[in-house]
Amino acid sequence: MTDYSKRYKTLATNLIHAGAPHPNIEGAVATPVFQSANYLMSDEQTYDAVRYIRLNNTPNHHVLHNKLAAIESAESALVTSSGMAAISASILSFVKAGDHMLAQNTLYGGTQSFLDDDSAGFGFSFDNIDVGPGADSSAWEKSLRDNTKVIYVEGISNPLIEVGDLRAVVEFAKANNLITILDNTFATTVNFRPIEAGFDIVVHSATKYLGGHSDIVAGAVIGSTEHIDKVNHKLLHLGGSLDPHACFLLERGMKTLALRVERQNSNAQRLAEFLAKHPAVRKVNYPGLPDDPSHINAKSLFDGFGGMLSFYAKDDATAGRFLDSVTIPKYAASLGGVESLVVRPSMSTHLGIAPEERVRLGVTDDLIRVSVGIEDVEELLADFKQALS
Ligand SMILES: Cc1ncc(COP(=O)(O)O)c(C=O)c1O
Repeated sequence: MTDYSKRYKTLATNLIHAGAPHPNIEGAVATPVFQSANYLMSDEQTYDAVRYIRLNNTPNHHVLHNKLAAIESAESALVTSSGMAAISASILSFVKAGDHMLAQNTLYGGTQSFLDDDSAGFGFSFDNIDVGPGADSSAWEKSLRDNTKVIYVEGISNPLIEVGDLRAVVEFAKANNLITILDNTFATTVNFRPIEAGFDIVVHSATKYLGGHSDIVAGAVIGSTEHIDKVNHKLLHLGGSLDPHACFLLERGMKTLALRVERQNSNAQRLAEFLAKHPAVRKVNYPGLPDDPSHINAKSLFDGFGGMLSFYAKDDATAGRFLDSVTIPKYAASLGGVESLVVRPSMSTHLGIAPEERVRLGVTDDLIRVSVGIEDVEELLADFKQALS
């Protein structure tokens, strides 16, 4: 009989076998969709133990929780209805009214907007700090307060694809008794396992690489059982549980995560090297390039450099022509699926930011972000070449 809490030695094997099969699935090899809102009572002693989809405790949830915890080397995990549900529930579990938190100054727009628009309503405050490559970590002290509880960062930032000194973040947090939360969406578990690097909580938009097929919205929170129980309890109140059918699709997608990300890493590396030498390109942001400012940080912590890159065309018109001419990648926001996607961040993900602030962040109209898919790399290279010519 397979033990569904068993962990295997390697990530690739855990992605396929950890968490499954659940004991209640009548011998099915793939976890079926348990499309039942509620379940017969047995001898539940606590509210959290009553089986109900919103309480995230159906067989579809349990399989994913075991799998996610196994792949990130953590005690526990939780799936959520979106990446933002994972992020907001995690922050609200560790930052209460009257508390303060530190947050990286180049966060995903939805996370920054949650802090900008909602922190005052929840009664907490925050300061943005620079944790990017070359940042002066001694400057973080200046933003620290007696009531600072959390430091929140991203493994790879968007859209400049920067990797900060994440070891320094862990050391700073330990020295100052802060909970560390890291959004690992861009790097993915294949390239980076933050718990092994000393972070407390990992969040993902599972919509992206974990799901991998651009067909669900989902999130994940991973950490110690003590921390995850806290986040789970908050999530029950906020109502951000994941529907069983989306759980099924997420589990199916995760089985191929290692294969997909290995291919995305190598495709992105080839594209970045090609773009870096192209006369129509001013600059490429990709940590896999040896002279990229993030290369040293990424090399020391990551197993691969990821499938996300961005580049500045030599001018706005060239960027526009590239987007009009490229034929394989789709022009769409989001990322992490099997298909390559291109966007102009100044006109999509960062449209809500004032133009002068966009310029300060380096998000100019000549910047193009690429989520590299698993297509044939020679065909992708040929397409980029004709679109830049
Ligand atoms: C880095 C990062 N974190 C979180 C999110 C939010 O995820 P979701 O759209 O699944 O709520 C996104 C979405 O683009 C993202 O890019």
